[in-house]
Formats: sequence, C-alpha cells, structure tokens
Amino acid sequence: MTKRIGILTSGGDCPGLNAAIRAVVSHATLTYGWEVLGIPYATQGLMEAKASRLTVHCQDLRGIDPLLSLGGTILGSVNKGDTVANADAIIAGYHRLGLDALIAIGGDGSLAILHTLAQKGNWNLVSIPKTIDNDVALTDRAIGFDTAVNTVTNALYNLSCTAASHDRVMVVEVMGRASGHLALNAGLAGGADVILIPEIPYTIDSVCRKIRELRERWGRCFAIVVVAEGARTLEGGFVAEKDAEGHLRFHGIGDYIADRVCRCSEGNLEARVTVLGHVQRGGIPSALDRLLATTFGKAAVDLVAEGRFNHMVAWQHGELVSVPQTEVFAKSPTFVDPNHFLVQTARALNVYIGEFVNETMVGPGTGSSLIPPLAPHTELVPQ
Ligand code: F6P
Repeated sequence: MTKRIGILTSGGDCPGLNAAIRAVVSHATLTYGWEVLGIPYATQGLMEAKASRLTVHCQDLRGIDPLLSLGGTILGSVNKGDTVANADAIIAGYHRLGLDALIAIGGDGSLAILHTLAQKGNWNLVSIPKTIDNDVALTDRAIGFDTAVNTVTNALYNLSCTAASHDRVMVVEVMGRASGHLALNAGLAGGADVILIPEIPYTIDSVCRKIRELRERWGRCFAIVVVAEGARTLEGGFVAEKDAEGHLRFHGIGDYIADRVCRCSEGNLEARVTVLGHVQRGGIPSALDRLLATTFGKAAVDLVAEGRFNHMVAWQHGELVSVPQTEVFAKSPTFVDPNHFLVQTARALNVYIGEFVNETMVGPGTGSSLIPPLAPHTELVPQ
C-alpha cells in the first residue's frame, strides 16, 4: 500500500542529519514507492502543517549527491518553543498532513517530547538518535558524535603546537551538557593532560599539581586541559547561566579553570582559553557518521514498513537493532561510567581525570557506578 511518511529533524543540529534524510527518502521512495514529506523546523512545521515533498533527485547537474556529506540539516531544526501549550496544534498538524507515519531524528530531549505527542495524538512514530553529546540511552552511538570527536581532536592538535611554542596552558571548553562523552573521547584521542567531565568531580589543586608535575618531572612546559562544559568541582560547583526561558546553559568553565590555574601558580603559568562552541556541531560528517546515518535511515523506514512504531533504531555492540522508545527515555541521558575503560585508560596514561569517587557518591538505581546527574546541584561556581 502506498504510504505517506513525514520526516523531521529536531533539537540541536549535528553533522550526518542530511545523510540520514537522504537514506530515508531513497529507501522509502525507491524500495517501497512511498511519498516522503520533509517537515521544516520540527514541531513548528507540524504546527503549521507545512511540508514539502522530498525526492531522490536532489543531485546537482553532474549527478553528485551533496546530501551525504552536507553538514547541518536541510529541513531546519528547533530546540525551543512551548510544545506543551501548543500540543493540540502540533498533533493536529500530523493528521492535517495526512501522514501514515513520522520518522523523527533527534536527541533524547526532543525525541521524548515527540514520543509524548505521538502517544497523545495517535501518531505512528519511529525515531533516529542524533547528538554530539552521545547521551541517548540504549545506543552506543548517535549520529554526529564521531564527527564532533574528530573536530575536537583536530583542534587539540592545533592547540598543542602553539601551546608548545609559547609554554602555555591551553584550556579547551567542550560541549556535552551534563555528559562527558565528547570531552573524554576527544581528550584521550587528542592527548590531553587533564580531562574534566561532569561525572567525575575535580579539584583545582589537582589540576595545578598535574601541570606542575609535567614541568618538574618531565620538563614539558605546556599543557592541554580539556574541560566539558558541565564539569563540576568536588563540592558540586559548576559554571552556567540561565537563558531567557530560564533554562540552564553551561558556559564559561574554561575561563574559570584558566583563571584558577594562573592564580595557583602565582602568575608563573600563562593560560589561554578556547571555547570550541558550535564549531563542534558543524562540518562535514565523518565516514562513520555517514555510515551510521545511512543505516539508521534505512532501518527506520523498514520499521515503518513492518508497523513497528514507538521504536528507535540503535547501534549496540556493532549490531543494528531497534529499542522501545519508552525504555530509551526512561534511561536518558546517559553519563560516563567512572569505571569505563576509557577512564581507566586515561588514568593509566597519567592523565588527570578528576578525583577517585567513593561509594557514597554513586547514585542509587543508576546501574553500575554512575554519579547522579547535575540537576540536583544548585550552587554556581563564582566567576
Ligand atoms: O545537545 C547538544 C548541544 O550542542 C550541547 O552540547 C550544548 O550544550 C547545547 O546543545 C547548545 O545548545 P544551543 O545550540 O541551543 O546553544
């Protein structure tokens, strides 16, 4: 039976979204003969029942298909707006568009919102995980993470060169919200001396001790400090500001660390800060992200064909699987396990990655050894 399916991208963008859109359109139209409607700006487009028909003929004149490697999202995206107040209008948009199913590409927050709307509005929803934070549960990888790890790793190499020339401490602030997956992976791949992540609290004294040790013991006069934007001190302090809608936005931890490092060295250390910011969200998707996006897109269409709704496609232990959305959102966002082998590898390589955590800091009911997320902490580190 000919179906009409919708596709949208929601939440913060990342590299690989267009590759997923391309796979969905190609498989749905060529294999199944369905019509695919691209919905602009996620819930905003649904609310206005706006959509345009997507076809596989999006190559340029010489036959090159640019979508596989194009960063961002051709559909646009939103990560704000009152989806509670506008729920009825958004739900109605799905039905006004005459959709048989909707494929949503999003992070844990925006997919959870769409899942709630789908339940309420009787939609047939299938989701695809994406986020540079890599904190969607039940999938080892989300689209965009690998490219962001590469972007940060490359930046660390560039910064190492100039740091070595000037004997400086380079503090690099990395995204990730309350999860440290990006900082940990890139910090390790980029040879950082210090990696600070939200899940493992740090002390400034230990950061300074590590930098001093590099000089005194190894004669190395520069240092690379990677700090996740949500990193917290042993006392639970973190640096953030509230946006206009009252949401907490992590920003400024890099300046805080650099300032404290200079102070504790009594002016002997010179530090510079690089906030990589949205550079981490852009660029050409890596080969791995393109593969992930392509397989996720194909698998999402197959789930629609099989009528297996309310599922998310996922990557687990090298296999492509699908998982119930309710289970995903019950467990998201995910945090770095302080006993993860990457953390152990960092410690073994003499990287300072925060203090050893004791049993009293392990959150109840969070599985292995996860530290509770940042939400319960209210104290802000003074700037
Ligand atoms: O969730 C992805 C992410 O890039 C986070 O790492 C970051 O904190 C946030 O989005 C930034 O959001 P915005 O684009 O709204 O500034």
